[in-house]
Amino acid sequence: MLDILVGGFYGDEGKGKIASFLALKDNPALSVRTGGTNAGHTIVFNGKKLGLRSMPSAFVNPKTELAMAPGSLIRLAILEREINETGTGSRLFIDPHTGVITEEDIEAEKSNAHLNGTVGSTLQGVGSAESRRILRKLKLAKDYSELSKYMTDVPEKVLDALEQGKLVHIESTQGHFLSLYHGEYPYVTSRNTTSSGVLSEVGIGPKYVDNITVIFKSFITRVGGGVLKGELTPEEAKKLGVEEFGTVTGRPRRVSLFDPEVAKRVARINSATQVAITKLDIKFPGAKGVREYSKLPEDAKKWLDEMEAEIGVPVTLAGTGEEAMDTIDMRYKLRK
Ligand code: GTP
Ligand code: MG
Repeated sequence: MLDILVGGFYGDEGKGKIASFLALKDNPALSVRTGGTNAGHTIVFNGKKLGLRSMPSAFVNPKTELAMAPGSLIRLAILEREINETGTGSRLFIDPHTGVITEEDIEAEKSNAHLNGTVGSTLQGVGSAESRRILRKLKLAKDYSELSKYMTDVPEKVLDALEQGKLVHIESTQGHFLSLYHGEYPYVTSRNTTSSGVLSEVGIGPKYVDNITVIFKSFITRVGGGVLKGELTPEEAKKLGVEEFGTVTGRPRRVSLFDPEVAKRVARINSATQVAITKLDIKFPGAKGVREYSKLPEDAKKWLDEMEAEIGVPVTLAGTGEEAMDTIDMRYKLRK
């Protein structure tokens, strides 16, 4: 069984939270992280809060093995810190082709006025490293002796697990509209963030995929430049309680309301089999901490049902708090 998790808007939809919930609930044998260190996944579990930029959020399940995809990008200092924070060195596997971002990449982006100004990049060196990869100048994980103990052929490991009937999760970063190909270029990130892009980063074909979960939030946020339809003023966002600040940059996120038409298009392009909506408790404060659909306030139930009808894909997961387990699991809808 292969399940893919991708972001449906501009990132920060709560992939870390949903991925950690699914890891605890479904017990995957392996979880593979794609993307780079410009992501900031927030995980709140057992009262502890972590902002992870590299490690799969599935680390919360001690039985799940963790892997970095060949197409992903790591930074040594961040990786080391997160291995220590999560205590996962003994169950971490890194593909020899995983790219390595250096301090020079970060410096190059900081002094790049286009990225820094127009694009509003997070300046984490990801784009610089990726462009060096394309120019065949990037050093990969296999070139660093300190990583040798983690070296594993990750596509092989994924395929072996799938062939043995085990469950594998693929965890993506950022979101649909930040895709290098399908987002609003040039206000995009340096990779294809859609479900198909994620598969190519891992390096396996589509026939193995069982579930594609697109994660939305009950409102839309965006950092950096570009158009945000229906953008609220910071005052309006504050009044509605939907203001947010970036995990990596600390910058205030730009905000607009949930748009089901947009969500429908995203679900189609990513061939979503199911949809998760996080932060239901922010839109409907009475939903806070609720873990069963039947216990939700009527207005929250009605809104979820309406969104499901408009998007045309079952809404199977809803987030009702920061804590991983503050999630309503409605995947029984898929078993009908
Ligand atoms: P990227 O990989 O950077 O795109 O981030 P992400 O999708 O993992 O999301 P991120 O952690 O950056 O932002 C989501 C924020 O919402 C975090 O602060 C989470 O703790 C919080 N969060 C996630 N789900 C819920 C929810 O259902 N309710 C509430 N109240 N907070 C949530
Ligand atoms: Mg984030």
